[in-house]
Amino acid sequence: MNQQEFEPAMRRSLELALNGPAHGVNPQVGAVILDADLNIIAEGWHQGAGTPHAEVMALRNLSEAYGSNPPANLTAVVTLEPCNHTGRTGPCSQALIAAGISRVVFASQDPGDVSGNGSQTLRDAGIEVIPGVLISEADQQLRVWLTANRNKRTYVTLKWASSLDGRNAANDGSSQWISGPLSREHTHITRSQIDAIAVGTGTVLADNPELTARRPDGSYFEHQPIRVVIGQSDLGADLKIFNDRAPTIHLQTRNLVDALTDLWARGVKHLLVEGGPTLASQFERENLVDEYQIYLAPVLLGGAKTALGDIGVSSIARAHRLEIFEIEQLGNDLFLRARRA
Ligand SMILES: NC(=O)c1ccc[n+]([C@@H]2O[C@H](COP(=O)([O-])OP(=O)(O)OC[C@H]3O[C@@H](n4cnc5c(N)ncnc54)[C@H](OP(=O)(O)O)[C@@H]3O)[C@@H](O)[C@H]2O)c1
Repeated sequence: MNQQEFEPAMRRSLELALNGPAHGVNPQVGAVILDADLNIIAEGWHQGAGTPHAEVMALRNLSEAYGSNPPANLTAVVTLEPCNHTGRTGPCSQALIAAGISRVVFASQDPGDVSGNGSQTLRDAGIEVIPGVLISEADQQLRVWLTANRNKRTYVTLKWASSLDGRNAANDGSSQWISGPLSREHTHITRSQIDAIAVGTGTVLADNPELTARRPDGSYFEHQPIRVVIGQSDLGADLKIFNDRAPTIHLQTRNLVDALTDLWARGVKHLLVEGGPTLASQFERENLVDEYQIYLAPVLLGGAKTALGDIGVSSIARAHRLEIFEIEQLGNDLFLRARRA
């Protein structure tokens, strides 16, 4: 059978994956089970660390529907290579073998030292394995988890809002608001789907922000990211960032690699760096940014307050070239998602 025959089922699995939480150490994964005519007869997705993986949820739904008499010649279609290790839940490769699945189709390869190579276990058990179906879509959906696990460090998204001429404040320092309400709402949704957000001590001391994820009506999202402040300065306990709305970590260092190592050890898969310009520029200067989220507002400010300061680019030949992989209009603003080219 050729890969294309499984693309509709994989698209459904990719859709199902998004039902799971984007935050947390585990990836968003979706799975469907197909009968011999390639009809979907069961579905599943991963609901976060400590809960069954997508394949296991799909198998459970299959046995709920068919009891101990499932149809023969079943195919499992999963967005990520079934895992091979026993964590808080058993290995998915073994669950698929035990369920008598005949064929496993997956998209992205598991890069994990411990969890990876489930496909070999499946092949050894006589199961047909078809890898790589819609791999670019799945790799894109799983990019945070795949990159963080490959690099063994927290994935860093750098966010800023700026005027069309690249300024993030007027000359007197005022910056509220450069971007429009839809952009601000979008930022809060991003916060509600991420493990942690970071600012430098400069921003905390200048603005006393709360740094929580809120809806436009002021209500709080259920998931709140860990608030991370980076910098050596002491901070008063009465600052809003230390309120009980969310956990807060003050990393009293300027060593960003150490900071990311510390956060990775605490299970932070994805960090959103929200500024200010000093911290943002330093992350960029040290090549620690995996992704950029940029809100561009149709306003001109001129002057010296640029979104980024010195990032170590001494000539155009050394410019940090980016590729934009997503563009969205948010009211009058443009939202761009980019990565290093
Ligand atoms: N428009 C926007 O989107 C936006 C967003 C955020 C902030 N802002 C504005 O930015 C202003 C604050 O700017 P800022 O640049 O001073 O703030 P910042 O980048 O938040 O903080 C700068 C501080 O971070 C610490 N730090 C930690 N790691 C560092 C490293 N590797 N290298 C250098 N410093 C490091 C240093 O403080 P220590 O001395 O404590 O180590 C440094 O002074 C505020 O007025 C705020 O309103 C604007």
